[in-house]
Amino acid sequence: MKILGIETSCDETALSIIEASGDLDNPQITILKEIVNSQIETHKKYGGVFPAEAKKRHQENLPILLEKIDLRKDNKPDIDFIAVTYGPGLEPCLWTGITFAQELSKAWNIPLLPINHMEGHIASVLLSRDPSKRQDKNAVAFPFLALLISGAHTELVYATEWGKYKILGKTLDDAVGEAYDKVGRMLDIPYPGGPELSRLAQKAREEHLQDDEITLPRMMLNKSLDFSFSGLKTAVLYKIQKLEKISDIQKKIIAKEFEDSVVDLLIRKTRKALEKNEVKTFIASGGVIANTYIRENLTKLCDEFEVKVLFPPQELSGDNAVMIAIAGYLKQFREKPSMNVEIIAKGNLTLDQ
Ligand code: KG4
Ligand code: ZN
Repeated sequence: MKILGIETSCDETALSIIEASGDLDNPQITILKEIVNSQIETHKKYGGVFPAEAKKRHQENLPILLEKIDLRKDNKPDIDFIAVTYGPGLEPCLWTGITFAQELSKAWNIPLLPINHMEGHIASVLLSRDPSKRQDKNAVAFPFLALLISGAHTELVYATEWGKYKILGKTLDDAVGEAYDKVGRMLDIPYPGGPELSRLAQKAREEHLQDDEITLPRMMLNKSLDFSFSGLKTAVLYKIQKLEKISDIQKKIIAKEFEDSVVDLLIRKTRKALEKNEVKTFIASGGVIANTYIRENLTKLCDEFEVKVLFPPQELSGDNAVMIAIAGYLKQFREKPSMNVEIIAKGNLTLDQ
């Protein structure tokens, strides 16, 4: 079947068409069309995403992107249903995508299915590009443990089947990506600081840079599987205030210390979750998983536990509509797409709702 995916939850406007077949044990996905329009340049000047501006951009972009994937509102395409993100995210942005999907659904007489953006991030690993892992039978063996790390989320999710998710732990304050972006800002790196901060950290490792004056604490580990990054963020702030002027070398060292501390926490919590639960597949996804250092460390951990590990292809780590269409394919086995479904944007939608 063919599915049109629509994603507008934050600062990326994205459309996709996928062709999907096979049962839930062995889904086969082919990307037919894929387009993402990033608004990063628009939001740089605000140092973060400005919802009203993002909404306006989504409204402008959607018809243009539709044309770019060769679809027209007045010409019914060969598509079985439309999968659209309804949460979590910025509500004005979510509504833009939902309204657009409803208009197309009516114009074409094609049913709709509302999709949880975070289920989309999980589903993105079905396109893992590593040939040894790609689309083999039981690509995702259950139960799985997923670590979802993005600009707005940090959570450990456990599932015994598609659609049944239990949140084992989540962040009590900032999300990982948010912490990267905020520390980036402290170091004068434009929004979103994550990728550049991580690049600087990598440079510090390659150049073996070290400074006894610039060390950052490893986060205390409480018993729960919840995360907290505010202490680390404050530690970075104090460190920066103490150093009057920051040299390029010091900047790299701060970036490395920050990333080491983040990775240390992610690994320790994930290890705990792996120890406490039966896990056949470990999934890590969300925008921050573009980070190769985090990927490497999670892979080592899973090797230790002899658990299969799946990441999305690098280019599908950030927000996109392919993952929404794939999540749509998985969801249509449990809920039929419908012409009359009432879709309401839910900014705080969780995976266990
Ligand atoms: O999933 P995503 O595209 O959007 C949300 O749904 O939040 O994630 C974006 C986040 C941003 O905070 C960005 O700085 C972060 O992912 N990010 C990274 C890297 N690439 C993107 N953080 C650390 N290292 C990276 N290489
Ligand atoms: Zn996302």
